[in-house]
Amino acid sequence: MKRLSIFVSGNGTNLQRIAEYFLEDFEVKIENVVCNNPKAYAIERAKKLGIPVRMITKQDFNSEAFTQELKSLGIDLIVLAGFLWKLPESLVKAFPKKIVNIHPALLPKYGGKGFYGEHVHEAVVAAKEPYSGITVHYVNELYDSGEIILQARVSLDEKETPDSLAAKIHQLEQAYFPVAIEQVLNAIQ
Ligand code: GAR
Repeated sequence: MKRLSIFVSGNGTNLQRIAEYFLEDFEVKIENVVCNNPKAYAIERAKKLGIPVRMITKQDFNSEAFTQELKSLGIDLIVLAGFLWKLPESLVKAFPKKIVNIHPALLPKYGGKGFYGEHVHEAVVAAKEPYSGITVHYVNELYDSGEIILQARVSLDEKETPDSLAAKIHQLEQAYFPVAIEQVLNAIQ
């Protein structure tokens, strides 16, 4: 049995998709959803999916006790699914190559502080990039710079807007994120 902890801050469409993807896989369990935003719709999704929600403040998040809590739950992989806080170094060190993130662009471009959600799509459209896409990567101590696990790309149309690009990226995320997670889980002993 592999145990996942999924960290969220917003809508939770990736959480929903991951939960549905692994629903009938009895070797994979989503142990909890960790959320830093009391207004996140992801909380409702987790409740409907029957997954316990652990709300966090900055203070618990940065505490050693929180890392130990995840360890004592036997978490094998932490999945950042639209989670917008930087991880404390101690958490990253406690889960080496056991934390993955999804980013809505083709890293290393359009990554780093401030590049999240629609801000990424606005920048990509403004720069008239021919392509954008998604990157699933391991998490290290810096923003958006860990080893890349999977990228998928999509082309921009001449009349692309940040909203139309967001819809394309959403489709890529729904198709590829669970598959990338499955690959990572299969590689964990
Ligand atoms: C996703 O598009 C994800 O790639 C992005 O936030 C969105 C969350 O959507 N993540 C980042 O921008 C991280 N820097 P969701 O809450 O519906 O899954």
